[in-house]
Amino acid sequence: MQQIEDELEKSSEKYQYLIKYAPTGIYEVDAHNRFRSVNEVMCKALGYSEKELLSMAPSSLLYPESRKRFQQRTHDILAGKAVDESVEYHVKTKNGSGLWVVMKVKFIQKNGVIDGALVIVHDVTERKRSERALLSAERKYRRLFETTQDGIMARNLEGRMINCNPAYAKMLGYTRKEIKSLSVRQLIPEKWHNQRDRVVKKVIETGHSVLFEREYRRKDGSVFPASVRTWRLTDGKGKAIGIWSIVREISLQKQQQKSLEEHAGVLEQIVQDREKRLKDNERLVAIGQTAGMVGHDLRNPLQALTGELYLAKTELASFPQGEGRSNLEESIHVIEEQILYMDKIVSDLQAFVQPIHIDKKPVGLQELLSAVIQTVTIPQNVTIKLENSGRSLQIRVDPHLIKRVLINLVTNAVQAMPSGGRLYVLAKVDSHGHVSISVEDTGVGIPDRLKSQIFTPLFTTKPRGQGFGLAVCKRVIEAHGGTICFESSEGKGTRFTLDFPAA
Ligand SMILES: Nc1ncnc2c1ncn2[C@@H]1O[C@H](COP(=O)(O)OP(=O)(O)O)[C@@H](O)[C@H]1O
Ligand SMILES: [Mg+2]
Repeated sequence: MQQIEDELEKSSEKYQYLIKYAPTGIYEVDAHNRFRSVNEVMCKALGYSEKELLSMAPSSLLYPESRKRFQQRTHDILAGKAVDESVEYHVKTKNGSGLWVVMKVKFIQKNGVIDGALVIVHDVTERKRSERALLSAERKYRRLFETTQDGIMARNLEGRMINCNPAYAKMLGYTRKEIKSLSVRQLIPEKWHNQRDRVVKKVIETGHSVLFEREYRRKDGSVFPASVRTWRLTDGKGKAIGIWSIVREISLQKQQQKSLEEHAGVLEQIVQDREKRLKDNERLVAIGQTAGMVGHDLRNPLQALTGELYLAKTELASFPQGEGRSNLEESIHVIEEQILYMDKIVSDLQAFVQPIHIDKKPVGLQELLSAVIQTVTIPQNVTIKLENSGRSLQIRVDPHLIKRVLINLVTNAVQAMPSGGRLYVLAKVDSHGHVSISVEDTGVGIPDRLKSQIFTPLFTTKPRGQGFGLAVCKRVIEAHGGTICFESSEGKGTRFTLDFPAA
């Protein structure tokens, strides 16, 4: 008997020892749910001394929600219901911070009734915290997955869909259910299949892709560009089981990029035009500077030439008729024409660069028009019609300058009819005294694209043109307070009209 008692004592000692030093919290309660014993780990974790704890009711250590569960559980036990062996509670510590614990409860029976319980307590606060963090992170990711505008999708190694978010399905015009049964090849135009194979291979090898672009095909057949980034999908052990991608539609960006490029193109064109105009201006200034000089210097020898030529012509008249004389006459005629041409260039230049002084005088319309027609050499294949409704009328203009304008217009008209045509010069005066003079031809016409440029100085389409004629006309007419305008249709002819206000 003594031996049994000794044994018991020994085992009880061992048992007490274990409880005291075990690295987990252990306590015992009696049938009335009062602490019978608590171990050191328990005291430390809760921040109370052993004495303090033994004077407290275990349930008073629980947070309200846990206390409720505790009461329910006690109720169940008393009612003889089966309960889980382990239970999780939120426990208050002395300093107010809480602990999450899992308790394993072993009921102690005595004579068939519950006499108390031995409870082992595990602190699971850390695990609980990281579980919570995980849960909230997962919730965040899920929300992102569901709501982001970017398409997200995962596929297995065979290209079968594992999952995709609503944005991905919407972007492609399918429901999520429809799209799950489609292979990736059905969603991208064939010309991108090779690229996809390459990307997948690379992603499986290296883990991810760079940002790249490809096209997708919607359910309705329309194709759109997208930027894509892809990652390797692994099972828990790092084995590749597929890929997942983020797909962003970039139609708008592409469009914007295109219109930006177009815009840049237009800007470039404007800059080029400006540059050209600046260059033209520089040219004009340079021309202006030299024109005065050259004009002045050429004027005199030209006059001398004209004089000499006149003498030569008179002299020639006394030569006997014959081949020699008519050859000479022919030469003199050519020289005369060329001198006239040189004179015209010089006058245009000067008219353009010099400030215009207008010296208005009364001029008879009829005389003015006939003088013009006589000055310009009209080829045989051009018929000319002169109509003047204000035959006897006098207009107040600068006769030299207006003559120059009309000569320019008639010259242009003749030049526009290299294979002949009709030239029609019409002068009209209305009852208010407005004078309008038009010069019309049946020549080549002015192409629409050139219409805005013809009054620009230096603009010419002729191999030997100066491009000053119309610029001078405009300057002169505007200096008179009048206007110059034109109508032209390509291949049919052109009409320039001068309008002068009533004198
Ligand atoms: N009657 C016309 N018919 C067709 N084109 C014309 C006519 N008049 C002017 N143009 C066009 O306008 C350009 C400018 O004329 P202008 O200023 O007189 O310079 P230029 O005669 O030296 O070329 C001409 O090169 C030609 O292309
Ligand atoms: Mg001209």
